[in-house]
Amino acid sequence: MSQEISSGLSESRVFPPSEAFLRGCGDRPHVASLDEYRALWTRSIQDPEGFWGEVARGFDWFTPFTSVLDWQCPDARWFDGGTLNACHNCVDRQVNAGHGDEVAIIWEGEPGWPSDASSAYAAAFSSSDRALSARHGHAVRHLTYRHLQEETARLANALRSLGVRKGDVVTLYMGMVPELAIAVLACARIGAAHSVIFGGFAAPAIIDRVADAQSRVIITCDGAWRRGAIVPLKANVDEACTGAPSVEHVIVLRRTGHDVPMRAGRDHWWHELVASQPSTCACEPMASEDLLFLLYTSGSTGKPKGIRHTTAGYSIFTAFTARMTFDLHPGTEQVYFCTADIGWITGHSYIVYGLLPNRVPTLMYEGAPNAPAEDRFWSIVERHRVTHFYTAPTAIRAFMKWGDAHPAKHDLSSLRLLGTVGEPINPEAWMWYHRTIGGERCPIVDTMWQTETGGHIITPLPGATPTVPGSCTLPMFGIDAAIVNERGEELPANAGGLLVIRKPWPAMLRGIHGDRQRFIDTYWSKVPGMYVAGDGARRDERGYFWIMGRIDDVINVSGHRLGTMEVESALVAHEAVVEAAVVGMPHEIKGTGIAAFVTLGPGHTGRAGDALRKELQEHVAHEIGAIAKPDMIRFTQALPKTRSGKIMRRLLRDIAAGNEVRQDTTTLEDFTVLAKLRETEE
Ligand code: WTA
Repeated sequence: MSQEISSGLSESRVFPPSEAFLRGCGDRPHVASLDEYRALWTRSIQDPEGFWGEVARGFDWFTPFTSVLDWQCPDARWFDGGTLNACHNCVDRQVNAGHGDEVAIIWEGEPGWPSDASSAYAAAFSSSDRALSARHGHAVRHLTYRHLQEETARLANALRSLGVRKGDVVTLYMGMVPELAIAVLACARIGAAHSVIFGGFAAPAIIDRVADAQSRVIITCDGAWRRGAIVPLKANVDEACTGAPSVEHVIVLRRTGHDVPMRAGRDHWWHELVASQPSTCACEPMASEDLLFLLYTSGSTGKPKGIRHTTAGYSIFTAFTARMTFDLHPGTEQVYFCTADIGWITGHSYIVYGLLPNRVPTLMYEGAPNAPAEDRFWSIVERHRVTHFYTAPTAIRAFMKWGDAHPAKHDLSSLRLLGTVGEPINPEAWMWYHRTIGGERCPIVDTMWQTETGGHIITPLPGATPTVPGSCTLPMFGIDAAIVNERGEELPANAGGLLVIRKPWPAMLRGIHGDRQRFIDTYWSKVPGMYVAGDGARRDERGYFWIMGRIDDVINVSGHRLGTMEVESALVAHEAVVEAAVVGMPHEIKGTGIAAFVTLGPGHTGRAGDALRKELQEHVAHEIGAIAKPDMIRFTQALPKTRSGKIMRRLLRDIAAGNEVRQDTTTLEDFTVLAKLRETEE
């Protein structure tokens, strides 16, 4: 297992839903007690069709569905016969119901106003936002549902003018600007699938994804602001296009205003192409199982896989789980802030698709949590009276390290609920979050899920579930989660095993783009008939789940999934490296850091040392992105292998964990003795 959290066996602190939370719920929380949760969960498992049929009827349909579920493992068809549109349910529906002038998205740009006022991007601001931004010294925008409707329609028309049709895949490689959410929704509006690539990825990662999806159109920005510097998004796209012949058009949003070369015939400025389009565009009726998007994520082998999510099941499940987990109520004072990037599944599901149908403003921010200062998030919470704050354990550990003075400077009394996602949260971080950010009055929802599950699968419900630091507690409605052995037998309390889901759920992945066999092998073969998540976990005597970490060669670095193979491939692509083995190692802030063991080619052994270490780190950043930079690189004469030639990863993990960053050593290591000692154990 690549990571473990403190066992939790001795964890006895239990936090029932706080009085303060229950009092603040206005009417009442959606689920108000553990008994109510259990009754509903039991119903959702015994009668999934009745349960999900009812939930789905809360959505707007162009044609009603005729069946709820058709399940031929591993293929699920949900809500067949129906047609609907995801953008309609996020945007048009709210406008049609008379809420067009309510705020849908709040955005905070990287601080820099009013110097920003002169930039090209300022034209996108409403006059009141411009005044507000100048007053606060922060770039702030408020986008209403009506504004979203008009802007998604314009971009949708622009995409059509470039020949994009229903079923095409449009690649989005942008910074965290509202136009990224608009682009996601515009694709949904015309039935084009989007494939969002995180803006931190480098050109080779764009090439892989664009080629796999055969995307003809990329939407990008001239650049993105991060800590006062410009991330060269357009330059990366230019580099990627040389290796991605399918690309015919690139739409470029002017965000930073710096000079970027535009290639005639291929590149189009957003403000020229989009602004002149009509502001109406009917939402395309989509069949329930039509592709909504691809999102590439790391696996244990090969290149990243394009996870397929479809229109009805995904939209309905994310909107429903957002409502339950965050106890959302439209038309109240709720303001929801998720710190994720839309380039990851968390941003797809719980910034855009899950939030907008619930009519609670969703706040997105551009930049970094520690720029201009380490209180960035707390100043956002204070300024916008944020009630719901959702972030990752790695961020919480960083906040702890930065010190209590930063949150203490701000009025955080608006907060009512806190959430975490992405990796197991250690109880110390949980307690700090609870006390220092939540003032001991905010429930913490530790939400366990994956790119593949589309939405929350195990999580507390804030008005119902007593929480225990470090446990993601109980399954979501409709999720038949269990801990089993490889024969599929459920294990007794506290025994570690495989986390599986035994029944289909609406937002389950519908496949890996273009690779049926990999889909079956990865998720459906280890325990026949059950979805295997790839995580080790246990259940305690209360029935609460504790996630212990990945059981494959995926590592979770700062809540971001990375395949060790991807980093290894990047390393061996360097001229000096012959072989590389990458494993996770404990890291104070990131949860898991990246340790690489490399062997050097004959002409390069003399280069083992810090200069080459740096060069290899930069090389990996250039091949994949900065998130994949190894934290530790060790040079070795040979990698420890079993007789059958398998790298002894457990041995490497032990070594990486035992010896924290020893950047100073330049001697080559000899693993042979150690390997022989351990050979029998692997
Ligand atoms: C891990 C992110 C423990 C887990 C939404 C999973 C978690 C992988 C939690 C998916 C949590 C996510 N507690 N572990 N609350 N949430 N994980 O696809 O290992 O980027 O399999 O989706 O993150 O990562 P992904």
